[in-house]
Amino acid sequence: MSKTFGEVIALDGVDLDVAPGHIHGLVGPNGAGKTTLLGLLLGLVVADGGTLEMLGASVGRAFSVPGGVAGFVEGPGLYPTLTARQNLAALASLRSEPTARAADVDALLDRVGLLEVAGDAVRGFSLGMRQRLGLAAALLGEPRLLVLDEPANGLDPAGKRQVHEVLAGLAEAGTTVVLSSHRMDDLTALCDEVTLLSTGRVVFSGPVAKLAAESGDLDHRLVTSDPVGARRVVDGTPSLSLVPGRRAQAPRDEQALVVRGPEAALDDLVGRLVGAGIAIRELGPVVPLLEAAFLALTGTDEEAAR
Ligand SMILES: Nc1ncnc2c1ncn2[C@@H]1O[C@H](COP(=O)(O)OP(=O)(O)OP(=O)(O)O)[C@@H](O)[C@H]1O
Ligand SMILES: [Mg+2]
Repeated sequence: MSKTFGEVIALDGVDLDVAPGHIHGLVGPNGAGKTTLLGLLLGLVVADGGTLEMLGASVGRAFSVPGGVAGFVEGPGLYPTLTARQNLAALASLRSEPTARAADVDALLDRVGLLEVAGDAVRGFSLGMRQRLGLAAALLGEPRLLVLDEPANGLDPAGKRQVHEVLAGLAEAGTTVVLSSHRMDDLTALCDEVTLLSTGRVVFSGPVAKLAAESGDLDHRLVTSDPVGARRVVDGTPSLSLVPGRRAQAPRDEQALVVRGPEAALDDLVGRLVGAGIAIRELGPVVPLLEAAFLALTGTDEEAAR
């Protein structure tokens, strides 16, 4: 699919396959095109080119999507003066779905952890509470494809776990979920597959574990009992280099070296350090594997951590 807004190319020939019953994550820097792509799936955006097939139906360049698709982009639309319960009841009747019974609405509110505040006006809800209510609203029609734009945004750790559980349960029951996130750790916990977008192009699509393998040479932080000796050993290890001037961003920085090289060379280094009688106190990637892959593949690496 392709989509431009004036001069801006939001989607540049994006090709994507999402298997039924999978949770598929979209990641990418700000402005990468995630919301535009999710908007296509919800019928909020018409593409300039390409074709879209959803739930077995061909929908061309979109705008009218088949039934069974639900979700939201850029935060759910809610009635601020109505309570959480009234919002869900109103949405159910507007969609002329078999009007959700009060018990159904409350079960949904319970599922997303909002039953206690069901009678409160949405006006006073926090960002995280709105996100949860948006999810409940999307679940009203028991969708077969759920599309969520940064659903974990604003959620506290308990809320995040709850939403993760709801989504995992849905996928297990056969619902397909496409969501976006900026948090690599959320995606790892939740998604079967991820697609990495960068300026409207797909730079990676596949299982999360495969993404981690794409990161190539990684910077590792090395803390030893003898930094001077360790420096010498690193210099003598093939394929490894010391990264000068790069701060290791953690306590005990004075002691830490940052070394760059492939995994096999790091393994080699461990043997050499031990052989030289130098104790290794710490050896690990400076940024988590997935984040490193993200930075490398989206070209935002340029010593971003500095
Ligand atoms: N309605 C619009 N009018 C003009 N430009 C738009 C519009 N919607 C999106 N864009 C542009 O298209 C590009 C992709 O935007 P999009 O919102 O899809 O990015 P995103 O990946 O969701 O970013 P973020 O992580 O910040 O949410 C951006 O350059 C944006 O400025
Ligand atoms: Mg967005």
